[in-house]
Amino acid sequence: MNLIKKFLAAQAAVLALWAVGAQADSDDNIAERLKPVGEVCIAGQECKGVGAVAAAAGGARSADDVIAKHCGACHSSGVLGAPKIGDAADWKARAGERGGFDALLKSAIAGRNAMPPKGTCADCSDDELKGAIHKMSGL
Ligand code: HEC
Repeated sequence: MNLIKKFLAAQAAVLALWAVGAQADSDDNIAERLKPVGEVCIAGQECKGVGAVAAAAGGARSADDVIAKHCGACHSSGVLGAPKIGDAADWKARAGERGGFDALLKSAIAGRNAMPPKGTCADCSDDELKGAIHKMSGL
């Protein structure tokens, strides 16, 4: 009789431990399931994944991206007299004629002869255009 009681007590203890273990496990699962789908980013604070979001929204593109998508169409081969990518002498002469790098940026923003305003990258920021011009001209 005593032996049976001990046996049952041991069984109960095992069951209790199992229950605690199971509870802890499901707490983890619950935390995982309750994880927010998205995060709010506040200006001025660091925010994970904001680069990817900005890229998807059209911001913060690299010079290579802008050139590949927009400028390269004309500036790779020099279509319509466009200064070629890497032709430092041509870019330098233009910068000299216009009055410096910033003047080149200005004419890229406004457009010039066959060069369309912002080089067809209508949603490019000035900084993105600047990056592309730096890269293409080597200036
Ligand atoms: C449709 C063709 C075309 C595309 C696309 C294009 N360009 Fe141009 N670009 C030109 C031509 C043509 C010129 C030469 C204009 C001239 O001086 O007559 C030029 C000239 C320039 C100049 C020199 C301007 C000056 O004052 O001499 C800059 C800077 C420039 N492009 C930047 C860019 C950038 C940056 C992009 C991409 C965002 C771009 N271009 C896309 C055709 C293009």
